[in-house]
Amino acid sequence: MKCYYCDHELVRALSLVFVCLLLSLLSIKKVDASHQVYPEYQTLPAVKVKQLEHRTGYHFQPQKHWINDPNGPMYYNGIYHLFYQHNPYGAVWGNIVWGHSVSMDLINWKALKPAIKPTKPYDKHGCWSGSATILPGNKPVILYTGVVDENQTQVQNYVLPANISDPYLEEWIKPDDNPLVVAEPGVNRTAFRDPTTAWMGRDGHWRILIGSRRKHTGIAYLYKSKDFIKWVKAKHPLHSKDRTGNWECPDFFPVAREGKKGLDNSMIEEQNVKFVLKVSLDTTRYDYYTVGKYFPEIDRYIPDNTSVDGWKGLRYDCGNFYASKSFFDASKNRRILWGWSNESDTKMDDVEKGWAGIQTIPRRIWLHPNGKQLLAWPIEEVESLRGHKVQLRNENMKKGDVVEIKGITAAQADVEVVFSFPSLDKAERLHPSLDHLDAHELCSRKGSSVHGGLGPFGLLTLASGKLDEYTPVFVRVFKAKNKHKILLCSDASSSSLKKGLYKPSFAGFLDVDLAKKKLSLRSLIDHSVVESFGAGGEVCITSRVYPALAVSDNAHLYAFNNGSETVAIETLDAWSMKGPKLMN
Ligand code: FRU
Repeated sequence: MKCYYCDHELVRALSLVFVCLLLSLLSIKKVDASHQVYPEYQTLPAVKVKQLEHRTGYHFQPQKHWINDPNGPMYYNGIYHLFYQHNPYGAVWGNIVWGHSVSMDLINWKALKPAIKPTKPYDKHGCWSGSATILPGNKPVILYTGVVDENQTQVQNYVLPANISDPYLEEWIKPDDNPLVVAEPGVNRTAFRDPTTAWMGRDGHWRILIGSRRKHTGIAYLYKSKDFIKWVKAKHPLHSKDRTGNWECPDFFPVAREGKKGLDNSMIEEQNVKFVLKVSLDTTRYDYYTVGKYFPEIDRYIPDNTSVDGWKGLRYDCGNFYASKSFFDASKNRRILWGWSNESDTKMDDVEKGWAGIQTIPRRIWLHPNGKQLLAWPIEEVESLRGHKVQLRNENMKKGDVVEIKGITAAQADVEVVFSFPSLDKAERLHPSLDHLDAHELCSRKGSSVHGGLGPFGLLTLASGKLDEYTPVFVRVFKAKNKHKILLCSDASSSSLKKGLYKPSFAGFLDVDLAKKKLSLRSLIDHSVVESFGAGGEVCITSRVYPALAVSDNAHLYAFNNGSETVAIETLDAWSMKGPKLMN
């Protein structure tokens, strides 16, 4: 999941970029400044959920209205719980409660009533993000951020299940000793939020992180507690980084050095363990992580020198994916990642649709054998939705060839493909003047229709019959100074004839060995979302798109090659995806 988004500007003029980004964030539809309030839409109930053609068929979304961050995911007594930031009254951000759904398999969900609503002085302006921890004795507890006033002053609170023997844990109570953590002098009270899952140190004390900033320095404050009630701020933050702005939704967890097995957050003393710290940067609205070492004796985290700390860093997903949160699934010994994918149509579209925001398909994450980054792959349970299947084997594509993959519901599908090529000789030379470009810029300059040498080749997803609209997910191999640069691109620029949409060319570089002369790609296509995984999950990219023509039965799926080197579809398996069942 390597991504070099925005790198050259950052190196040259970080502060300038900071200002530019802020301006651009505020002036275009791309992303909203966080917690922007739209009073006129905030309590506009969805009369009916319209524009069904863009509603997803197998991604997690509430029946209607707004959703943002995944909160407090956990596996408890045989049931998965997902809570989420939700506006129960409209399709824009505001009136935030914790929506709650439960599932046996992370795919088929039952919606419950909101678990945490603003009712107390310490959360009456919003129940913001947080995490669940399962305490010894199998007792779940949730920490969340309460907003206490109109200035958005933030404190940390806790809730407990009212009835531990209710399998769905529907009812949550707010004990009287809330709030648990209030910002002390010197801590920014309006940037003090999103407590992590707690982990226990060798000294038997619990630890949590709270995201914050001091001026432009992003901070993960560390708090410790013996009893989970009285929390004391540690002398030093666990980690901080200048010029990264506010850190939202920190996530900190151990990963095994080898294999795919996940670890519980408290398994910090295990042999052969590394750590991951993820932060969501409020300014760019992307998630970044580092792989590093945790020194429990001094409670410090230091990223490895192979992990860039900050805006140039690793991304779980190089596309539309934010405020993610992982949890340890003890039933299958794996770590699972949830992430929010915001809409990229207009606010008015959202109000008309009656809904906004989805959760991406949960991904299993583990350390890459190179020890430098994570790998991510859709959880195996999503395969239970696979229906009718079609396949292609050893089909050659010459320059300009487009092959239709017929016989599946192209608007709601899962595609796995392995491309192979006879040699790397025809890889186009990357002109030195373009060598500094980040993946995103390279993708927008060298799109899927610009002829190349080895590539562009890949899939045209959510395509209209005459290719007036399509979202290409493709690979393009360049010969750079002394190595190959392999670009994976998910390009929304031609995704829709509709006006006013944000249509970014998202991309990342793959760091795979090309000796085998093969590249694999998987895309989960679901009406208005395309989630792609290159080289077994080394680079993941989520795009949100809103075709005008390529909807429902009018959507098509193609494979293509626009490079002079002939490329073979060695194997291609594609499935129509069913919709999940609602749990009783
Ligand atoms: C991230 C975030 C969190 C906050 C929540 C409010 O998207 O801004 O920092 O707790 O959303 O809904």
